[in-house]
Amino acid sequence: MKGIVLAGGSGTRLYPITRTVSKQLLPVGDKPMIYYPLSVLMLADITEILIISTPTDLPQFRRLLGDGSSLGLTITYAEQSEPRGIAEALVIGADHIGDDSVALVLGDNIFHGHGFSEILTENSRDLVGCVVFGYPVQDPERYGVGEVDAAGRLVAIEEKPMRPRSNRAITGLYFYDNSVVDIAAGLRPSARGELEITDVNRAYVRLGQARLIELGRGYAWLDTGTPESLLQAGQYVRTMEERQGVRIACVEEIALRKGFIDAEACYRLGISMSSSAYGRYVMEIAEELGALPA
Ligand code: G1P
Repeated sequence: MKGIVLAGGSGTRLYPITRTVSKQLLPVGDKPMIYYPLSVLMLADITEILIISTPTDLPQFRRLLGDGSSLGLTITYAEQSEPRGIAEALVIGADHIGDDSVALVLGDNIFHGHGFSEILTENSRDLVGCVVFGYPVQDPERYGVGEVDAAGRLVAIEEKPMRPRSNRAITGLYFYDNSVVDIAAGLRPSARGELEITDVNRAYVRLGQARLIELGRGYAWLDTGTPESLLQAGQYVRTMEERQGVRIACVEEIALRKGFIDAEACYRLGISMSSSAYGRYVMEIAEELGALPA
């Protein structure tokens, strides 16, 4: 399975902060926001990842993550020149997807919870159709909203409905089989002029091939769209991290635990950031898992 992170958009709800910095590079806790969606893909065992962003912001992502090799990943980059919708990521990413399946994650979505890696790997294996993830929220009208039948099959999905039929928001993480390339290529812009991800998901609903996995109340799915929610997300992350002494979305640690890199390589990544607590954490983890301290 291939991975795509969509980190586009102009982040106008965060102006003036995002006048000069991409929203997905803003700090959440002590790391850039994109580390969170990137770690979701890594937890799903995905190593070939395309990052899509605006022409202005793309160089910064490249500077942060390079070709991904230090994390045992292959990261490539592509431009979305205008905000033409989430589903355009699947058109831009068609070559990257090739004849494989794909996981698309939005660059501002933050997930956290126990056993997430298992949920991701179980549901991406031998994928037929699409898998979306549902999460109970008190303001479903702000999101895509799904309805399921008794067998967990998604039977309807609506984008930002005025009268939501459930409180189940569809999160910004989507698994698709290879037919998504054709589905995306056939999309027409919606009334607001965008290629809608909800239209892609609806195509799978019509085929009876859309599954919804519930992320229950034991999970966190956090918003980062406004100054308040961005701050809350950072506070949640730091509260958990400080209490437990482990870090959320530490991509170096995940790369090591997943076996994408070895302990020595991880230790070196830590050393390069040893002036920060984050860097020292990476060194500690590497030592715990076998690196010999320099
Ligand atoms: C998009 C999708 C929506 C989904 C949400 C998740 O909305 O269109 O279905 O629930 O992402 O973050 P947007 O954030 O573009 O308003």
